[in-house]
Amino acid sequence: MTKLLEVRDLKMYYSTMRGDVKAVDDVSFAIEKGESLGLAGESGCGKTSVALALMKLYPSNAKILSGEVLLDGVDILKMSDEEIRREVRWRRISMVPQAAMTALNPVFTIKDQIVEAILTHEDVSEKEAGERAVELLRRVGIDPSRASNYPHEFSGGMKQRAMMAMALSCNPDLVIADEPTTALDVIVQAQVLKEIKKLQKELGLSMILISHDLSVVAETCDKTIIMYAGNIAEDSTTLEIFRHPLHPYSIGLIGAFPKLTGERKRLESIKGNPPNLLNPPPGCRFHPRCPYAKDVCKVVPPPLQETHIGHRVACHMVNRHPEYR
Ligand SMILES: Nc1ncnc2c1ncn2[C@@H]1O[C@H](COP(=O)(O)OP(=O)(O)OP(=O)(O)O)[C@@H](O)[C@H]1O
Ligand SMILES: [Mg+2]
Repeated sequence: MTKLLEVRDLKMYYSTMRGDVKAVDDVSFAIEKGESLGLAGESGCGKTSVALALMKLYPSNAKILSGEVLLDGVDILKMSDEEIRREVRWRRISMVPQAAMTALNPVFTIKDQIVEAILTHEDVSEKEAGERAVELLRRVGIDPSRASNYPHEFSGGMKQRAMMAMALSCNPDLVIADEPTTALDVIVQAQVLKEIKKLQKELGLSMILISHDLSVVAETCDKTIIMYAGNIAEDSTTLEIFRHPLHPYSIGLIGAFPKLTGERKRLESIKGNPPNLLNPPPGCRFHPRCPYAKDVCKVVPPPLQETHIGHRVACHMVNRHPEYR
């Protein structure tokens, strides 16, 4: 497989009156062509911030301190806003933003909104854009007869699908879906996820699926990244992460999802709360909550290291602490 996107040592902070919020700190990962990658972790750990950095779409108080985002080897962080708008957003990377359902404009039909997105980015006739819009809706499971509906005539699941159709409208290589199913009830959520997965495979798309819900990631993605407080705690294939998690945080998180382990027994959540990213703990950011923390963890940030092929973990104690396996 070939790498589509490679993120190297990305550091993005938000400036605030009270200091810098260290939302993305030395994050590195890659995504191959046609691969789906899940980005999971508790609320506030920096998932959306990573996604925004990948499209250079961050708010004005965000600053990139270091890092590269290589799209087919070209660093998009070095591109001008104009170049990104012209060449990257929508055409190469598109995003279904968090709370996407509310992003639809209530005064235009669903089809017109997709047509508009196509015409803004591509030099095609209105007729062609219209045909493509209807075809995209069909692909995401919406009957063409509903194309001329207004957003209020759509259910939540349909709106989410329409947003997916819009994200696909300019044939991107990578779609980032930020909490695509969080607002939906469980049954609709499962349907929409199935559609997304099918579409991703059919179109050979690369996809980053962001969710705080581990079961969503487990069901949908080839690979999984677990984030904690602005850092990557662990990443590997989804199968490996859920069968053999190595980071104490992942172990706790996965153990707290009985749906995943198939066991009824412990629904023990990890004690304590994630840190305030204005002033995260020194050393390993997880150490105040970690049952295995030693002195080194309080001082030295653990590097993200490969324990075996394709499995990276940021923990000083990994392989030294048999009891937590
Ligand atoms: N514009 C901003 N200014 C200051 N801090 C921000 C800004 N946007 C986000 N943050 C902070 O950055 C951190 C990461 O936020 P982010 O939205 O990336 O988290 P998330 O993992 O997507 O959370 P959720 O699961 O709730 O969507 C949080 O501490 C958040 O409060
Ligand atoms: Mg978010």
